[in-house]
Amino acid sequence: MSDFSNPNFPYDFIGQVLITQEQIEQRVAELGHQITKDYADSERLLLLGLLRGSVVFMTDLMRNIHLPITLDFMSVSSYAGATSSGFVRIDSDHKTNIHGWDVILIDDIVDSGYTLRTVSKLLRDRQPHSLALCALLDKVAQHRVQLDIHYLGFEIPDYFVVGYGLDIDEKGRNLPYIASVDLEKYQRGKK
Ligand code: PRP
Repeated sequence: MSDFSNPNFPYDFIGQVLITQEQIEQRVAELGHQITKDYADSERLLLLGLLRGSVVFMTDLMRNIHLPITLDFMSVSSYAGATSSGFVRIDSDHKTNIHGWDVILIDDIVDSGYTLRTVSKLLRDRQPHSLALCALLDKVAQHRVQLDIHYLGFEIPDYFVVGYGLDIDEKGRNLPYIASVDLEKYQRGKK
């Protein structure tokens, strides 16, 4: 970890850079390489991203997968904490009929785990040939459900993080690294 704030980005609430751009690039290349090997025999491979946080990760990951792929997206809203089991609303569904496809469900971060658990249950009912979960970040301390994440970028500590697709109130998604948010600075900046 290093103290760093990039004057090229108009955010004054960056705490620490937890994962650098170079570390992300290297790990995403490794994940792409692994997926390329694992799905070499796949006839129909679908990368299914959850909007909006996964977009940056997904567009980099797909360029590291050297196989034919199809892209699709779902938009979901998570209300973890509102109920003991978590509630996830599907705002927009995928377009592809996934029956018989090898599906890799992609998200930016696993927090409680409710989002990936709920969406993966729904997708299994649609009878894909296979379903794997892929996430850039895993905030293990926040898990409320058990999940098998087949392709994981990094485990992170229990900090509020932004960058590389992740946001705080929609800010920070365009940072090229993963950084913690200085919540005191953030609150001061809102006043
Ligand atoms: C975030 C994130 C995951 C989900 C993880 O989405 O992108 O989809 O929460 O949380 P969970 O493991 O507790 O379910 P968010 O609702 O913030 O939307 P976004 O992707 O548009 O940022």
